Amino acid sequence: MYKIETPETEADFDVYFDFRWEMLRKPWNYPQGSEKDEYEQVSEHRMIRNNKGEVIAIGRVHMNNSEEAQIRHIAVANEAQGRGLAKMIMSSLEAVARQEGAVRMVTNSRELSTPFFESCGFEVEKEASAELGKLKRQQMVKRLLEHNTILLHPKWCKELQDTWHDSIPISEQMGIKLYQYSGKTLENRASLNKNINLHGTMFAGSIFSLATLTGWGMIFLQLKEKNLMGEIVLGDGNIHYHKPITMQPRALCHIESLNGKFDGLSKDKKCQIKLKVDILDGDTAVAEFSGVYWILPAEPEIQDDIA
Ligand SMILES: CC(C)(COP(=O)(O)OP(=O)(O)OC[C@H]1O[C@@H](n2cnc3c(N)ncnc32)[C@H](O)[C@@H]1OP(=O)(O)O)[C@@H](O)C(=O)NCCC(=O)NCCS
Repeated sequence: MYKIETPETEADFDVYFDFRWEMLRKPWNYPQGSEKDEYEQVSEHRMIRNNKGEVIAIGRVHMNNSEEAQIRHIAVANEAQGRGLAKMIMSSLEAVARQEGAVRMVTNSRELSTPFFESCGFEVEKEASAELGKLKRQQMVKRLLEHNTILLHPKWCKELQDTWHDSIPISEQMGIKLYQYSGKTLENRASLNKNINLHGTMFAGSIFSLATLTGWGMIFLQLKEKNLMGEIVLGDGNIHYHKPITMQPRALCHIESLNGKFDGLSKDKKCQIKLKVDILDGDTAVAEFSGVYWILPAEPEIQDDIA
């Protein structure tokens, strides 16, 4: 399970900048140190490590002025590309930009990474100055409107949220909303105010509900992706709470945490899927949920109804 980290210690920053140099400067024979610029101190940095503790993804954002955020130095290790890690980093940087009041994000993208930025909602605006004197770049812009977070398959996302609100009305009272679905990561958010306890933090039972619904929702979306139907039920769930939530409750389920096969459903057999959900307060990891879900084959009459 991948976690987004904010480098804090000198040792964190050493490995963070080493990775930036390895990925974005070394291949063009630039010396160590050339990966840094004058905005490091005023930037927010994010990184992801693998299970050996090695940095495998990074990214940075800083404000150009009160309305404009600039994304720079996003990179993912070659062997970890294509798993949604850059998109995880981007969504964390975008959250920072929105929190800072940015109404648009800009980036100067190398030609090879333009499709990645397009998939995150950026559009090419014009040609930018070449990087390292030779790499052609495009200036790209994403306007930060209220509803343009990364949302793949918006119809399925709406159906999922409507299903929660119709069949589990308390989810609406808790202010649980699908925030982002990239195909690989599902993020849901809840309102702190609606779930507050006497300590001014989020009620643990609400955190558990947010986690179980996020796991449920991820399976719902995977069934859609695979064109399968089934009834999803929670068989077992465990949560470890490390810290209280005092700001912004977020729950993230990444596709790589899913363990189990959906194949049986097409043969009318039930399937078991295990998964993990990370609970964050803003960008701080505060709890971990592990769930075991069962998917029961859809009843024939239900299939008729839907068809
Ligand atoms: C660009 C880069 C950061 C993307 O990292 P990644 O982890 O592979 O990206 P993700 O898996 O998060 O991909 C997210 C989306 O971008 C799309 N994407 C990524 N690279 C793509 C490419 N070369 N062509 C088309 N689409 C691409 C994916 O299809 C995916 O879309 P989806 O979610 O709709 O399926 C990575 O390729 C990289 O580090 N490149 C070298 C460094 C670099 O050029 N950085 C940019 C500096 S400007």
